Amino acid sequence: MVVAANPLAVDAGAEVLRDGGTAADAMVAVQAVLGLVEPQSSGLGGGAFLVWYDAGTGILTTLDGRETAPFDATPQYFQDEDGVPLKFFDAVVGGRSVGAPGTPRLLEEAHRRWGKANWGDLFSKAIDLAEHGFAASPRLAQLISEDGERLQRYPATAAYFFPGGAALEAGDVVTNADYAATLRSIARDGSRAFYTGPIAEDIVRTVRTAEGNPGLLSMTDLALYDVIERAPVCVTYRAYDVCGMGPPSSGALTVGQILGIVEHTDLAALGPESPEAWRLIGDASRLAFADRGRYMADSDYVPMPTDGLTAPAYLEDRAKLLESDPAKGHRALDDVTPGMPEWDHAMLWGSDASIELPSTSHISIVDREGNALSMTTTIENGFGSRLFVRGFLLNNELTDFSFATHENGLPIANRVEPGKRPRSSMAPTIVMRDGAPVLVIGSPGGSRIIGYVAQAIINHIDWSMDVQQAVSAPHVLNRFGTMDLEEGTDAAALENALQGMGYKSNVQSLDSGLHAIAIGDSLTGGADPRREGIAMGE
Ligand code: DON
Repeated sequence: MVVAANPLAVDAGAEVLRDGGTAADAMVAVQAVLGLVEPQSSGLGGGAFLVWYDAGTGILTTLDGRETAPFDATPQYFQDEDGVPLKFFDAVVGGRSVGAPGTPRLLEEAHRRWGKANWGDLFSKAIDLAEHGFAASPRLAQLISEDGERLQRYPATAAYFFPGGAALEAGDVVTNADYAATLRSIARDGSRAFYTGPIAEDIVRTVRTAEGNPGLLSMTDLALYDVIERAPVCVTYRAYDVCGMGPPSSGALTVGQILGIVEHTDLAALGPESPEAWRLIGDASRLAFADRGRYMADSDYVPMPTDGLTAPAYLEDRAKLLESDPAKGHRALDDVTPGMPEWDHAMLWGSDASIELPSTSHISIVDREGNALSMTTTIENGFGSRLFVRGFLLNNELTDFSFATHENGLPIANRVEPGKRPRSSMAPTIVMRDGAPVLVIGSPGGSRIIGYVAQAIINHIDWSMDVQQAVSAPHVLNRFGTMDLEEGTDAAALENALQGMGYKSNVQSLDSGLHAIAIGDSLTGGADPRREGIAMGE
């Protein structure tokens, strides 16, 4: 079964599985097509995190294909000459925000470890669509029309998304010969065709000459890029182990903290219509985000209390903060501060203030051998840096770093450093029970990814929703104090009760893209109705 954000991509993956390919093979085909039909969200110019369950060995592995900062970048990279942090979009659009992409190497590494199909064949569907054309989807057309000014700032980008000066419309048949040629090179020569030679030279030139906002990416940054295998981060939640991507992603640690805190409450008895359930989840989430802001970053650069942050005794202590005083009733926490997890370094960080905004895509795949793949893939902002080269967009992942270097005199863990990977919220997850996978899940949504994934797991485990209900259910999120309630759903009806508990609230559209597979006697897929994805297979 394949669940991903566009039917053409899902179809390509399902065909690979039908032909006997593994989940890793199918993922390569899915990603190659997504880069064409959902170019605003992910692609060759971006990065990704992958969680793999190997049915043969029973081992879970995570691969970090996150972008890296140029070796010439300094902590002041996103500040002006006076040390003032740039405005977000002034940093995003252009070359400065572009990190060395990780996705091409990740595809190759996943295929090398777990694939059995012929590498070159996995690109044929995407090449065919790029050469013969695909119909622009309504979502792509809508996002192009909403981003006209930025997308037309650079001529190559404008020419592709605004052919003849007019925005692509839904149903327009689009061809992309440059993308087909890039894929042919990678199909023939592997990812080295991307990281060295003429494609790499074009990427570097585009970044370094971007008018108004050039970047520092170099041929060396590309040539030295590598995917890193990291230990999965797993947190026990009720009868399950919830496993995912550790640093430089904050995904698994923050999802794990939320679940590890609410484990000390009886959510099943409260049910999803109870404001009290959302107080508990919301305040658990605020506590977890406070720790995320202070402690989480690329652990290759900054010491991190990774074990301490998910230690059961620490989370039990944090859960005590949620206990209500019966005399006062159920109240929102007045004061949320980071905790003091146990760690073996004496270190105090300032809290981070980086911003993350929409794009990104999640792919869930289970193959006939029972291998399971959960991968979240991104170019960060919708249309990334807006730089378009060789048929694909370049990421703006470096704006996931903190623009400020210090807070109240303390250094910020997620500040820019040469070669470092920006902190992510991506949370590709595999939920295990008794050593076997039972749920594969993840979502786009910037730092809201964490709440989307944690809630969908609660929906499924505590509230017995099937996987489609679990991804469709209304969202209630809290990261930094305000309750975000999903517009046009039953969540909005909770507003009065939550305000009565002392929360600020905001009713708004909450654009998740949860893609999940539940593994039982058979497979059940769940595709988020808020985007264009589907589930296919059995
Ligand atoms: O890595 C991250 O957390 C972000 N760059 C992901 C961006 C994202 O999910 C935008 N989503 N709609």
